[in-house]
This record gives sequence, structure tokens and C-alpha cells, in this order.
Amino acid sequence: SDTEKGTYAHYMLKEIDEQPLVIRNILQKYQDEVNEIQLPNDIRTTFHAADRVYIIAAGTSYHAGLVGKEMMEKVIGKPVEVHIASEFLYNQPLLSRNPLFIFISQSGETADCRGVLVNVKEMGHPSLTITNVPGSTLSREADYMLHTYAGPEIAVASTKAYTAQMAVLAILAMDGAHAAGSDTDFDAIHELSIAANAMEALCDAKDDMEQIARDYLFDTRNAFFIGRSFDYHVVKEGALKLKEISYIQAEGFAGGELKHGTIALIEEGTPVFALSTQENVDLNIRGNLQEVVARGAHPCVVSMEGCHRADDQVVIPRVHPYLTALVAVVPLQLISYYAALHRGCDVDKPRNLAKSVTVE
Ligand code: AGP
Repeated sequence: SDTEKGTYAHYMLKEIDEQPLVIRNILQKYQDEVNEIQLPNDIRTTFHAADRVYIIAAGTSYHAGLVGKEMMEKVIGKPVEVHIASEFLYNQPLLSRNPLFIFISQSGETADCRGVLVNVKEMGHPSLTITNVPGSTLSREADYMLHTYAGPEIAVASTKAYTAQMAVLAILAMDGAHAAGSDTDFDAIHELSIAANAMEALCDAKDDMEQIARDYLFDTRNAFFIGRSFDYHVVKEGALKLKEISYIQAEGFAGGELKHGTIALIEEGTPVFALSTQENVDLNIRGNLQEVVARGAHPCVVSMEGCHRADDQVVIPRVHPYLTALVAVVPLQLISYYAALHRGCDVDKPRNLAKSVTVE
């Protein structure tokens, strides 16, 4: 069943492996008989009416929101802001005339998000929850709900929920563009099915990811992840995954920020994972890598076909530039998994963490 590990040693590995299937499942759920994206009419109308979208989330779901913002702004041309739920109430942004609040939450129970939702409802603004648990608090209390259809996620470290959230955001973006009558050439259905195949190919490369985990992370104290543009959002997620299950101190940085401080931390042998999936930033991120290598870093490059070099450690298959996050995160999830495994950590139940954080 969905909630059993079967032959897997850990839920996390099972859930990583399920990702291609989850994406295909989402595509099915959101398509009508003539293979068009079909979002409920009220959601389509509310989304279209909003002059600005405010995404509220925490942790990995926040990272999905960051990617969602880029997709929506590029595909629809609608302004989107992403806020960490716990910060929203202190630093409430100036709101537009017709805001729409989108809550992204795997569990639908995150108290920090609920705090914002209560506030938003008091103000009378419309709300939409994107969640993996339809009966959850956030889905019941928001005006609208979109299901991520990832199936139960048991491991504390979120994997398939994150990629599912981004897939639903891509669908929402494309639907929003159609509703707005703007001609986008972003075909979410087609591109997501290509991404699902790419994810599958990476899930088949577990041995390589295990070797990287051994080579780079077996006995390190810290590790850094760098990326630019879309890749910057993904390296934040890669670092969160690694730190929460392996307890290695890990941070994801914007490549351009290195020289503004972080590079001081680089020592002989410091692992630096660089992502390069966007052609327009490839040269710059490679330049950053040169800088850290010159200071002794142990570099690992995850790139995409088309902007890869012969000695890159991981090359992901080519997918649409808006969807690289769904694919590039897979090797990062696997590397984190094997790092935690070989360091003897409790992969599915890391110390100090709960699956859903129901206190503010
Ligand atoms: C992810 O690996 C974490 N366990 C955590 O950041 C999580 O994403 C966060 O607590 C948000 O949870 P939610 O999606 O259920 O709201």
C-alpha cells in the first residue's frame, strides 16, 4: 500500500522514487477528456481576477513557492510575492487592490501558515491552499483547494510533495495564461511529462549518487550549494535536505553572493555543489566555481544537457528551463539520502524535527 515501505529501507527513498509517477498522476488529474488543463472554474476566475499573488509557505514548501513565483511571472506576467509564513505577520507587505493568497503546504497543518490564513480571512481576501492532504486545516479553511496528489508522504524530509507542488504551480501558471488570453508557448502538460521521464532517468542513477555522497560528504563538517536564477531556489532546497537528515551544516547561496562574504568559508576540501541548468547563467556560475576551486573547494557540478561540460559529475536530461527544479532536485535528494545513510543518521525521522509543525 501507499503507506508501506515495501522493499525500501526508508520511506524517503521510496518517496524519491515515486516522483515521476506522481507527476504523471497530477497530469492525469488535471486534464479533461480532450487533454486540456482543467482547473475548477471558481479557481480560474479568482486567480484571473487577482492583480497580485502572495504565496505563503514554510520550509521546503516555501522553496517550491520561490520556483512557482518565477514560473507564474514568466508565463502569465502577473506579479507574485513569496513569503515565509512565520515572518508575514511582522513584516506584512503592502497589499495590492485584489490580492490572492496561495498557501502551499504538504500537510495543510502548518501553524505558521494558518496564522496568516486567519488574518487574510479577517481582511476579506480570497485564499487558495495547495496541499497534499485535502481534509487538512488549511484546505478546509481556505476558500479554494488544489490537491497535489503525491500520496502520503511519511519521511520527515519532503521530496515528492515538493516536486508535486511545483507541478501544480506550473499547471496553475499555464491555466492562468490561458484565462488571461496571453499567448504562452509553455505547454505544461507536454513539458511536465518530459520532466517526469528525466526524473525517472535520475532515479535510475542511484549508484552514482551514492558514490558522490561517499566521495564528498562522508566526513565533512559542512557543504555549500551555489546556483543562479532558478538554480538558486533549488540549491536552497538541496542544502535544507542535506542539513535536516545528515546534520551536515549546509547552505545554498546565490552564486553572485559568494564574493560578498561566503567565500571566506571555503577551505581545502570543502564540498561545493554547483547547479547549472540555465544557459543564461552557465558562464557566471562556472566562474564562481573557478573561484572556490582556486581556494581548495571540492567541486561537484550538476548541470543540464546543453550547458554541461565533459567533467561534470551529474548531467540531467534536457527539460524546459522553467521545470529544471523538478529534475535537478532529484540528484540532490539522493545525495542527501546516501550521505545521511552512510553517516548513520535516522533518515526518515531526523532528530529534533516533526513532520508537520503545528505550533507557531
Ligand atoms: C522539509 O523537508 C521539511 N521537513 C519542512 O521544511 C517542511 O517542508 C515544512 O515544515 C512545511 O511543511 P508543510 O509543507 O506541511 O506546510
